Amino acid sequence: MPEAETIWIIGASDGIGAALARDWAQRGARLILSARSAERLEDLAASLGPAHLALPLDVSNRESLVAAAAQIARIGPLDRVLHLAAMYDPGKIAALNPETAAQIVTVNLTGSFHIAQIAPPLLRTGGQLALCGSVAGYIGLPQGQIYSATKAGVINLAQSLHAELAGRYDVRLISPGFVDTRLTQRNAFTMPAMVTPEIAARAIIKGLDKRRFEVHFPRRLTYALKLLSALPYWAALPLTRRLTR
Ligand SMILES: NC(=O)c1ccc[n+]([C@@H]2O[C@H](COP(=O)([O-])OP(=O)(O)OC[C@H]3O[C@@H](n4cnc5c(N)ncnc54)[C@H](OP(=O)(O)O)[C@@H]3O)[C@@H](O)[C@H]2O)c1
Repeated sequence: MPEAETIWIIGASDGIGAALARDWAQRGARLILSARSAERLEDLAASLGPAHLALPLDVSNRESLVAAAAQIARIGPLDRVLHLAAMYDPGKIAALNPETAAQIVTVNLTGSFHIAQIAPPLLRTGGQLALCGSVAGYIGLPQGQIYSATKAGVINLAQSLHAELAGRYDVRLISPGFVDTRLTQRNAFTMPAMVTPEIAARAIIKGLDKRRFEVHFPRRLTYALKLLSALPYWAALPLTRRLTR
């Protein structure tokens, strides 16, 4: 990193976002750390040094995002915004709680939409906005709803935004495979090719410094799922059906 970058991480209090904050702080970045848990953010910011700011917000609450954006606008233009905040509640569709499902849509998809509107004016020209999808959004798999549907929506949103902001901002999509965080600790099945948050953070930082639209990892899992999602339904659906057993 040639000059100290200013980076806003939304979803920084835990998991991949917190690991990214630790890694980028070591590389000299100045961080704005957001999530709902104010105390965790303050502890993290303090542990990283005096240059960093804890800025609590709730991505499902537009007003809290507008207030955060006003505060950031006073700090100056951002080099990057990474939006990672999400909720997860695994299970079969028939067993899902409708209220929780609606909340997941609001946090994961509507929250990403709010960031897609609010973050670009805070970036310097050519600055980077990265939304976080998931390999779970590539193709509908059993046990993944309604989280996976929101991640398919985030992928689509990032693609549209990339086209609409081309030439002004550098829009990216992050597609993690399984990462060992509190989110995946809720899964009752064996997760292939699981990586630590620190490995995920390194892969994301490396990928965002390159030019490709999508940063996806670990490749041994992501390429297999990309292939599955590219197959015609007559070939793909019998394979996804086998995963219910
Ligand atoms: N872990 C995986 O295997 C995996 C795989 C694919 C994709 N992903 C994606 O990677 C991203 C990070 O996931 P993770 O595994 O690091 O999850 P995590 O450990 O649960 O962290 C999620 C972060 O989002 C914040 N957050 C949740 N709801 C929020 C809200 N309404 N407003 C603001 N912040 C909110 C949480 O903090 P507070 O609770 O303090 O608000 C936390 O900082 C997510 O987008 C997830 O979908 C993860």
